[in-house]
Amino acid sequence: MDKIVIKGGKRLEGSIPIAGAKNAALPLMCAGILTDEVLTLENLPLLADIDTMQNLLVQHGVELTMRHAGGNGRRTRTFALSTPDLASSLAPYDLVRKMRASVLVLGPLVARFGVARVSLPGGCAIGARPIDLHLKGLEALGAEIELDKGYVQASAPNGLRGGDVVFPFVSVGATENLLMAAVLARGETRLINAAREPEVVDLANCLNAMGAHIEGAGTDVITIKGVEGLHGAVHPVIADRIETGTYAMAAAATRGSVELQGAELDALPSVIDHLMRAGVEVEATDGGVKVSADRIVGVDVMTEPFPGFPTDLQAQMMALLATAEGASMVTETIFENRFMHVPELTRLGANINLHGRSAMVRGTQDLTGAAVMATDLRASVSLVVAALAAQGQTEVNRVYHLDRGYERLEEKLAACGADIERISG
Ligand code: UD1
Repeated sequence: MDKIVIKGGKRLEGSIPIAGAKNAALPLMCAGILTDEVLTLENLPLLADIDTMQNLLVQHGVELTMRHAGGNGRRTRTFALSTPDLASSLAPYDLVRKMRASVLVLGPLVARFGVARVSLPGGCAIGARPIDLHLKGLEALGAEIELDKGYVQASAPNGLRGGDVVFPFVSVGATENLLMAAVLARGETRLINAAREPEVVDLANCLNAMGAHIEGAGTDVITIKGVEGLHGAVHPVIADRIETGTYAMAAAATRGSVELQGAELDALPSVIDHLMRAGVEVEATDGGVKVSADRIVGVDVMTEPFPGFPTDLQAQMMALLATAEGASMVTETIFENRFMHVPELTRLGANINLHGRSAMVRGTQDLTGAAVMATDLRASVSLVVAALAAQGQTEVNRVYHLDRGYERLEEKLAACGADIERISG
């Protein structure tokens, strides 16, 4: 298994190109199921999760061609997807277990073909993460749902019909699944208490470009007027706000200065606010966003649905705050088990105490390298952030977690002066 070795204590300085957003790309790829015409998705990141989704879609019958593009230090992929026929309605356990976002095929499969058999995702490192909201929403649109031997069997032989779906709490994935189901349903659907994340807006924009009638994406009520069919479109994936935030925090942790090319400030309102209160300077530039820091002070952070502080940046922010002057309280409200990075950060000398859903972080200037290992994507990268700030050598094991969500991580950081290398094993 590969590992990443970092010799910390070097200021990051330079610029980092931000990739297309993984969490926007995955649902957008599933939208390819909704049409027999060609949906061209540009600016896809080069990530293991995108490959997993590609494998899943191809076995459903999606025809997919890929083109690589590059220039200005960037490399991206373009996919052309179309789905003339259904080859299989089955999303097998092996793929769904590997990547929970696989459940996003459910809505489009039922909407277009009237049938789907999708494995339940099961538990994962950051909590139980059920899909009950996805299933209740599909039932509200007329699908029949049965649970059988670990699989969801969904059917709507006569098509879906519009209706009101009221989410008891905000779910990004359920909003996306229902959005893709409702575009082909007969009549009007309202998604009430919908997620407002930029990735949901990106999906709605793409679906509208394919001929859907969606209004209100980005607010908590989305209205969809169903249409008979969707056509092809060309859609560029938005910049990855989580990658942006991660590198901003890495730069700040090393008291460095980095321009994040292609990053968008609007996608990270709460993160920018917290970073600035912690002492980070943030300015918009022609090509993106520049962050610089000389001194970091503690701030309290609580994760919330958008536009609040994203749970996907909680671990990285904690790593930054571990280097701050003073104390910070970090509270996780989205996932019940998302502090797996705490014991590992502690191995690097961080002073963190857990109290239920909150972590008290007392900053120190004395992080030191160690061998660490993490259990999920964002936890792993938080260890990279801390390692960049720590004196001495850190080995981050289980790098496959990082490869799910960060393309060319060591290359991007090394270009800004980090002493970082991947050791294959
Ligand atoms: C998406 C993101 C993930 C991010 C999360 C929250 C993708 C591919 N993944 O995940 O990176 O951390 O949003 O911003 O976009 N829940 C239920 N029942 C459901 C659905 C969700 O109880 O049917 C719970 C979850 O366990 C969790 C909370 O709702 O506690 C929010 O989850 P959700 O927004 O659905 O996350 P995902 O869409 O899975």
